[in-house]
Amino acid sequence: MIPRGGFISFEGIDGSGKSTQARLLAARLKEQGRSVVLTREPGGSPGAEEIRKLVLEGPPDRWSAQTEILLFTAARRDHLERTIRPALAAGSIVICDRFADSTRMYQGLRGQGLRAMVDSLHDLMIAQEPDLTLLIDMDPAIGLERALGRKGGEERFESFGQSMQAQMRAGFLDLARAAPDRIRVVDGTRTPEDVAADVARIVAAHLDGTQAA
Ligand code: ADP
Ligand code: TYD
Repeated sequence: MIPRGGFISFEGIDGSGKSTQARLLAARLKEQGRSVVLTREPGGSPGAEEIRKLVLEGPPDRWSAQTEILLFTAARRDHLERTIRPALAAGSIVICDRFADSTRMYQGLRGQGLRAMVDSLHDLMIAQEPDLTLLIDMDPAIGLERALGRKGGEERFESFGQSMQAQMRAGFLDLARAAPDRIRVVDGTRTPEDVAADVARIVAAHLDGTQAA
């Protein structure tokens, strides 16, 4: 049986500090002697990393929203099969930079009926949620500034404007309200160390709770 409780995801708009916090949490848990697998989406397994290139590179209109839902879900399925489930089964803590909540927001908010399509495909092909999700929340203006400060070829999504990011922020907060036991909101506008201290406290309480259960 796969041990429960060890699947942790980070979510939030671009530039909110997810990758930074995922790294800091992984380092902290490793220092405590825990086995940790740090991974990300889209990607996290060789096949899913190939799909990552397909979805993140190229012109913004390269894929329809529907095709994109299929590609992100295909990547997630491979990631689950090849990386996440084996790591959880081996007793590791899995820290994942984005998971299904990102598809609910980035693809699900792009048009009429798309959220229902995301949810149906998720139920059919993924049917798993993280045990704990840290939502790093912040004003999109700050997130965009931080994200644009980075260089790289993965520009399809970062060309989204600020109003889309604002919609996404509100959508993420709605998800958190709908799943308060799983999703915890963390204020991302503070220093990385302050955010990390909050994250560490929430994760410690979560892991203590699952071990005691
Ligand atoms: P995400 O993975 O959410 O896109 P990153 O962790 O890559 O965000 O951070 C985006 C940029 O902002 C990086 O250049 C990073 O060094 C910087 N950054 C991350 N956290 C903070 C913070 N708390 N305060 C200021 N800058 C930060
Ligand atoms: P990521 O590398 O996490 O970007 P960032 O560090 O800027 O947050 O993810 C790349 C992009 O992929 C990001 O803009 C969000 C998008 N994305 C989706 O649109 N759907 C998804 O299901 C996932 C996992 C990511």
